[in-house]
Amino acid sequence: MIFAGNFKTNHTRQSTALYIKELTQKTKAKKEEDRIILFPPLTAIDDYESDFTIGVQNAYHIQNGAYTGEIGLEQLDEFGIKTILIGHSERREHLGESQELLTQKFNFFKEEAFEIIYCIGEPLEVRKKGFEAVMKYLLAQFDGIDIAYDKLIIAYEPIWAIGTGRSATVEEISSTHRALKNVIKETALLYGGSAKLSNIKEILSIAGVDGVLVGSASLDADGFSKMVLA
Ligand code: 13P
Repeated sequence: MIFAGNFKTNHTRQSTALYIKELTQKTKAKKEEDRIILFPPLTAIDDYESDFTIGVQNAYHIQNGAYTGEIGLEQLDEFGIKTILIGHSERREHLGESQELLTQKFNFFKEEAFEIIYCIGEPLEVRKKGFEAVMKYLLAQFDGIDIAYDKLIIAYEPIWAIGTGRSATVEEISSTHRALKNVIKETALLYGGSAKLSNIKEILSIAGVDGVLVGSASLDADGFSKMVLA
């Protein structure tokens, strides 16, 4: 199973270092095949001593150049970062990242052999329209994306379940993952959206779920370690 923690705009360099120490200690008993990937904020990217994969929540699709406020490949290379999150709904929504821009990012980082966690998810008004509308919406988020890329992981994160405390139901996750797997085949598929200690076992037992992408519940190392060991 994959346990990915997306810190979003939380934690500092100092608290991330403490977090990684604590999580390392507390996940010693985890199954060998279980994998932990952490996405700290950019200011906390460093060469940490741990078995976890450290990835970035965002970067610009450029080696270096005049892109005020962004970082490119040169900055990631300095820390040996080879994993990136692309397509998170918060970037699509708040930062206005279009499918076209995401495709450019995807292709650039694919060319650089990055592991890409590509996020898709529908808003509530689409979910309310029914399953067919949901699948149409989700599949459109694959436009321009090479879903056969061998270093790709997909994260299904229904927007209405993110940060709301209310995860999708087993039936909603199950039917959506089944339909997505028909399209993406062997590619790993994570679920994200209010995954926490109280629902982690249930979520991970659903067929077609290969792990979780966790926001709020990943912020505390002790709590996240319990999810990994659950
Ligand atoms: P929450 O776990 O806080 O709902 O966030 C999920 C998410 O957006 C992870 O990328």
